[in-house]
Amino acid sequence: MFNKSFDIHLTFFSTKSPQLLGVDISSSSVKMIELSMVNKAENTLRLESYAIEPMPKEAILDGNINNLEVVGDSIRRAWKRMGTRVKNIALALPAAAVITKIIVVPAGQREDDLAFQVETEANQYIPFALDEVNLDFQVVRAIPDHPDEVEVMIAASRKEKVEDRVAAAFIAGLKATVMDVEHFAAQTAFELIERQLPEGGKDQVIALVDIGASITHLNVLYNGEFVYTRDQPFGGDQLTQEIQNQFNLTSEEAEAAKRNGSLSENFHTEVLQPFCETLALEVTRALQFFFTSTQYTQVNYIFLSGGCAVIPGLEEIVTERTQVITQVVNPFINMELSNRIAPRQLKIDAPLLMIACGLAMRGFDPS
Ligand SMILES: Nc1ncnc2c1ncn2[C@@H]1O[C@H](COP(=O)(O)OP(=O)(O)OP(=O)(O)O)[C@@H](O)[C@H]1O
Ligand SMILES: [Mg+2]
Repeated sequence: MFNKSFDIHLTFFSTKSPQLLGVDISSSSVKMIELSMVNKAENTLRLESYAIEPMPKEAILDGNINNLEVVGDSIRRAWKRMGTRVKNIALALPAAAVITKIIVVPAGQREDDLAFQVETEANQYIPFALDEVNLDFQVVRAIPDHPDEVEVMIAASRKEKVEDRVAAAFIAGLKATVMDVEHFAAQTAFELIERQLPEGGKDQVIALVDIGASITHLNVLYNGEFVYTRDQPFGGDQLTQEIQNQFNLTSEEAEAAKRNGSLSENFHTEVLQPFCETLALEVTRALQFFFTSTQYTQVNYIFLSGGCAVIPGLEEIVTERTQVITQVVNPFINMELSNRIAPRQLKIDAPLLMIACGLAMRGFDPS
């Protein structure tokens, strides 16, 4: 992919880019992470630094950048707090902004022949003119029993979606060198968590449930591959709204009160408890959709991420309602921590950092 306005070669599947920050631009905040590789043979990573910088309301709408300057400012503030010199960054687009498609092509083609074939095939799947899209592809695997063919994944997005994110980074003085897709980045970070499961989670049906500010994303993985994806309009904004109504607060006050737990006892019984019950019901419902639209009949583990996963006691409620072992993710468990990191705060922030972590890991892609 070639982005003319910024003269940057951007690819969804780009390979190694030496020093790289992972930057997740989301509706409620910018999350930024710097990792380093301590021991390549053992794949030991160190978390050097991270920042979560609030995003003003409406700067991002439905995953699209609505106000470039404001988003650029938030990125710049996050970068300042990082105390890093690295200026190359990996970004991601929301899944809804990217069309992905697996196609089967003859094996052993020359790169330019393959590119030509991908463009021809892509024309059928992409509802825009090809000169309006960023198109990228990657051979994903050989097909068992068909040595003459390989599976190729195509990823395509409207150019302006890519350019907006690149431009916001540019305003912040940073250079986007990798463009990923949010749920692929979460999947990359999830590899760190899967290793913590018995037999690395082999043959287990694993549901990743990300509950953010406005959307709940369900992704189901089986042996490292996505078998199901679904978004539901539900998230922490609902809780903030409820706090505003009940306690007559502004949205900023409600947001702060939610995080520092400064509300009275009836907040727990009248607001938080019902919210958690609704959340567990949303998860149950999402799983039912998964069962009815696939051949799967059970899920072995649920992993919760996103800002709402931080709510104390949520694991227990979801476990009880779904009857599935539920755990809040922490991709940093087996990482070394630089002495700039406060472990207790990191434990609270970890579930919000999956996408940024997966993006930061792109710096260590095998080339
Ligand atoms: N400590 C906390 N306790 C309770 N809720 C929290 C806490 N920290 C963050 N949240 C809530 O989590 C939500 C933000 O989560 P996250 O950063 O995962 O969302 P997002 O990625 O910006 O949103 P989306 O994915 O919906 O676009 C907000 O509603 C915020 O109020
Ligand atoms: Mg999110």
